[in-house]
This record gives sequence, structure tokens and C-alpha cells, in this order.
Amino acid sequence: MATLTFHGHSCFEIVAADGTRILIDPFLTGNGTADVGPEHFDDRLDYLILTHGHGDHIGDAFDILRQTGATLIATYELASYAGEVQGIEKVHPMHIGGGWDFPFGRVKLTVALHGGKIDADGAEAYTTNPAGVVVTVDGTRIYHAGDTALTMDMELLQGEVDVAILPIGDNFTMGPEDAGRAVGMIRPRMAIPMHFATFDLIDVDPERFVEATAGAAPITVMSPGEAIDV
Ligand code: NI
Ligand code: MN
Repeated sequence: MATLTFHGHSCFEIVAADGTRILIDPFLTGNGTADVGPEHFDDRLDYLILTHGHGDHIGDAFDILRQTGATLIATYELASYAGEVQGIEKVHPMHIGGGWDFPFGRVKLTVALHGGKIDADGAEAYTTNPAGVVVTVDGTRIYHAGDTALTMDMELLQGEVDVAILPIGDNFTMGPEDAGRAVGMIRPRMAIPMHFATFDLIDVDPERFVEATAGAAPITVMSPGEAIDV
């Protein structure tokens, strides 16, 4: 059984039963809702996954990668930027629709309908498509949708996902009603909202998401710092 910890906005940490630590989209510095800062990870991180290059997802990623020596998993262009411009030594490039069996389990990138600009100096040549990701750890298939609109592609995930982590904040991504429809399409065992309440433009009440799912799956609204077994 794996442990899933929410660190605010779209940042989630997965710890496998064997102790492998995986971090997704660590926007911590400058995020008033984050429960920890980058120093929290000290040298205890094995993999860092980025869904796309926007500043509220890259966040502290490169500092954490340097500090921990963890391996970055991202799209080819984002991984190339990390290696060639940021000097990150351990990168594993992938792309949408592809999966890879890592020592801790499988990672597969999924379609996300959103923007792909990398918010960083010298990144112009590395603009890429955004992605979602399905991480399989200890037999649990965790889908982190990244930033995305509701798309019909989510129907392809039906039967492939145990825990669905979905943006609900509206304005930049799905709002709570569309995210509720996404739960109906994916039919996970559990759904968790993210990407809401961090700043004014996405200040959405997660209860609207709970109502919109209409019982298609149990919803767990996590608070920053909260950890659950999945
Ligand atoms: Ni974004
Ligand atoms: Mn975002």
C-alpha cells in the first residue's frame, strides 16, 4: 500500500511501501497554501514528475532535483530543458501515450488539454504539450490529471485508474462541474480535487465538485499536509 500526501495546489507526494518517494508538481515557494517548503525533502526523494512547464507546477522542482539527486520524469522537451539548461543530471524523458516500468512501478503520460509554455529563462525552444500521468505504485493506479479541460480522452481511462486527482479550480482548467463529469467518465475508486483555492482566480468551493460527481465515486477533499493510504 502506498501513502499519498497533499502539499497544496497540485503537489502530491507518493511514498511506496519500499520507501521510494515520488513528488509531483512541487509549487511550494510563493504558494501560501503549501504545508512545507523545498527544504522538507532534504535528500529524501527518488523521482520528481512534472506535468507541464507552468510556474505553478515547476515551482521548486529544479532546486529540489539538485538538492535530492532525484530523477526527473517529464515530457521529452521539458526533460531536455532540465538537462540542457538547468543542468539536471538524471532525467527520464517520456511522451504522451507512452509508459515505462520504473523500479517502483509504471508511469504513463496521458493527454491533457492545456498550455505548454515553460515559465523559465532560456526555455523558448522547449515549449511542449502538457500531460497528465498515471503512476502505478504497489498495485494502485494513481491518475494526476495535471492542468486540463474536460476531454473525451478521459473515457479511455475508465477501468485504468484507482485514484483520480483532478483540477477543479475553473478559469485555467476544468471547473467543479466538468471535473464531476470527468469522474463519471473515469469511474475511479476514489477522486481527489486539486488546483483550487490557491489564489483568487481559482477560488472554488470543493463541495461543488462533490455535488457534481453525483455519487460516481467517493470524493476525498485533502487539506495541505494530509496523508492517506491508497
Ligand atoms: Ni498550467
Ligand atoms: Mn496550473
